[in-house]
Amino acid sequence: MAFPNRLLEDIRARVALADIVGKRVKLTRKGREHSGLCPFHNEKTPSFTVSEDKGFYHCFGCGAHGDVISFVMNTEGLSFPETVERLAGEAGLEVPVETPEARAEAKRRGDLYDVVEAACAWFEAQLHAPTSRQALDYLQGRGLQPETIKRFRLGYAPDGAGLAVALKAKGIEEAQLIEAGLLRRPDDGRAPYPFFRDRVMFPIADRRDRVIAFGGRLMGEAKAAKYVNSPDTPLFDKGRNLYNFGPARQASFESGTLVVTEGYMDVIALSQAGIQAAVAPLGTAMTEDQIKAVWRLAAEPVLCFDGDTAGQRAVGRAAERVLPLLEPGKSLRFALLPPGEDPDSLVTRQGAAAMRQILEAAQPLSEVIWRLEAGAGPVDTPERRADLQARLEKRVGEIGDATVREYYRSAVRDRLWASFRSGGGKRRGAAPAQGNPAAHLRNQLRGQNRRAQQAILAALINHPLLRDEFDEALEAVTFEPDLDNLRQQLQNLFAGSADLDLEAIRAHFTRGDVTSLLDGVLDKQVYVMAPFASPRADVEEARRGLGHLIGRRVHERLRHEVTELGRSAAASADEAGLAKALAAKQDAIESDRQLADIDE
Ligand code: UTP
Ligand code: MN
Repeated sequence: MAFPNRLLEDIRARVALADIVGKRVKLTRKGREHSGLCPFHNEKTPSFTVSEDKGFYHCFGCGAHGDVISFVMNTEGLSFPETVERLAGEAGLEVPVETPEARAEAKRRGDLYDVVEAACAWFEAQLHAPTSRQALDYLQGRGLQPETIKRFRLGYAPDGAGLAVALKAKGIEEAQLIEAGLLRRPDDGRAPYPFFRDRVMFPIADRRDRVIAFGGRLMGEAKAAKYVNSPDTPLFDKGRNLYNFGPARQASFESGTLVVTEGYMDVIALSQAGIQAAVAPLGTAMTEDQIKAVWRLAAEPVLCFDGDTAGQRAVGRAAERVLPLLEPGKSLRFALLPPGEDPDSLVTRQGAAAMRQILEAAQPLSEVIWRLEAGAGPVDTPERRADLQARLEKRVGEIGDATVREYYRSAVRDRLWASFRSGGGKRRGAAPAQGNPAAHLRNQLRGQNRRAQQAILAALINHPLLRDEFDEALEAVTFEPDLDNLRQQLQNLFAGSADLDLEAIRAHFTRGDVTSLLDGVLDKQVYVMAPFASPRADVEEARRGLGHLIGRRVHERLRHEVTELGRSAAASADEAGLAKALAAKQDAIESDRQLADIDE
């Protein structure tokens, strides 16, 4: 919508810049100027000035410069029209409407806000009515405090005509309730009926915190339509709005971060735990509009998905969708929750610190794209490598911004070369040579050795958080051929989605021989020898145990190689071979040193 210049001038004239800035920045007055710490960059001494006369702010530190409109846009993440409307409202200025039709439309919209607001207040009141005890119990049973219920304006929509009756008393017509999506008129001409029946209500507000729609949840575990959301209305477009956008905008400005979750309850639980910069889309995958909206709040919002396979698919979809939209400095990061958890359950059971840890460990988009393709299967032949390269380059080609695309292109090439050089995908298949004099001694150790190898795999199966961390370290471990086969299949699986749970892993292995290998790995005998590998161990314990065991495996393999090399080089008086043996020995010494570090 185009605004007349008059209106913009009136806003600049009537709204005191220092008042607006003063809400965010502690200003000190010096004559007609004010100064303070710049809100656009980090500084310890003030270089930010506000000139009331000129109607400008200017920062001598970072060069930020503008008027009241740009200040509000830049600090609150509002669009230009939203800013103009807001400031005009604050200054008591009428936003002119050009035509009578447009004026009628604006009035109708205005009225519709009132309708939805009235419904919201009614649902809120119902939640506290004695007859809806069950609904309040439900919300409190999910760990929500009264203060949280109030802040998010949660409510209850009983079955029956209560809403229509109560709102009619306030002069709200049936037709308006239909337009607001609160009543639905059946096609067959029967009387309209309420859209939300016997559901707990989650009001959805727009960027200016006006309620525009609702999500309603059945209490208990329903199979069909656990949540229903308001249909799109003149006020509500589910592809453009985000749950909790207004409060998150404030919080993200302060924290510089933003979390995007999948559900209403996730946002609410995070907020209650002190992570207020959180939003959720409204029952659909993130749209382009929504991605752009979250970028106005934070440069790299963290998308947080459930640790189930649906969550994995959602990660893939979001990563694909964002590529064409990337701009320099703007991206997404991806946090993966342990299987079976969503942000709500995790933060409620394990607390905010655990959640923050997961958010901090979020993977950059480039990593997710890499895993999406590189995890699709083995790349052990030139043809497969070429295919992987082609797939990655196709993805990179989808990046719209030329600069970002070029950086991605070179990053992908580097990584491809590095991974092929280190033999990514293709691992050692053959067992170490048998039949030398020490063979029978090794055979005696073999049982224990195999247990150690099984323990490594068990720890990775039982502790998804460690899979990434030890992915590369596994390269250096020699497994027996059958376990090595399982190891390779597991790593391929994990590369596709690093947090599959045991059930999901089992679902991938249908062949009987693989299943029994897996059973051997997850056997009590293994846990007796290596308690850290068991599902009951905590992740720190598992991390230490794995580090220790993998260190030892590497060490043993190196020692073995050194002996073998030395022996054969000496036998053939081969100088180059001896040099190699010497270098290997250096490695073994180095690994000894590291092992000592781990042992401490
Ligand atoms: P989830 O199924 O992940 O539910 O849906 P949740 O958020 O964890 O909900 P609780 O914890 O069981 O209460 C995520 C989001 O997907 C939409 C809703 O927006 C929900 O918040 N959804 C889900 C629907 O629109 N309809 C449904 O039937 C289910
Ligand atoms: Mn949930």
